[in-house]
Amino acid sequence: MNQQIVDQLAKDILSLIGKEHPAQQNIGTRATTLIQGFIQKPGVGDSLANLDISKKVRLWGSQGSGMQILLHGADTPKRGSPHDHGQSWALYFQVSGVTEMSTYQRISGAPGRPGRAVLEKTDQTNLTPGNAMFFGPLVIHSTQHSAPPARWIRVTGTDLDYVERLRFSIERKEAVIEQKYS
Ligand SMILES: [Fe+2]
Repeated sequence: MNQQIVDQLAKDILSLIGKEHPAQQNIGTRATTLIQGFIQKPGVGDSLANLDISKKVRLWGSQGSGMQILLHGADTPKRGSPHDHGQSWALYFQVSGVTEMSTYQRISGAPGRPGRAVLEKTDQTNLTPGNAMFFGPLVIHSTQHSAPPARWIRVTGTDLDYVERLRFSIERKEAVIEQKYS
């Protein structure tokens, strides 16, 4: 991966955030356009296809704080549980394959708090290459990859390993706090 091209992408996204509060209207649409341009640059597509996604791939960002550009992938069928990203925003951009993205509304329990949580699915979208979805703080969502392989870029407002966020169990109707590092 040509670091200069990634640095430029990060700089361009950060300049969007610098002017406005991250939302669908700015990051959601304009960062998507920037990433579409990024993956068409010479060598980028091949690099993204060849990176080892068995461990965390940070394309850009510093561990612990600030915006992160990550590459994720599924080489075998995967189904994630519903979660939020705490107070961070996130943009999921599909590079290859399909991410089946579900979003939920919490109809029982306080927003952002652990404890009893009944979820109602409000949307399911198949994210296909070149398309993206933006999530603001506390938006509950889950991913499924029924037909791997798939690769996607996830841009987050901060390093999610260091923020308090919720993971939901639909079966147990509860939300638990998840935080990797403090
Ligand atoms: Fe997520």
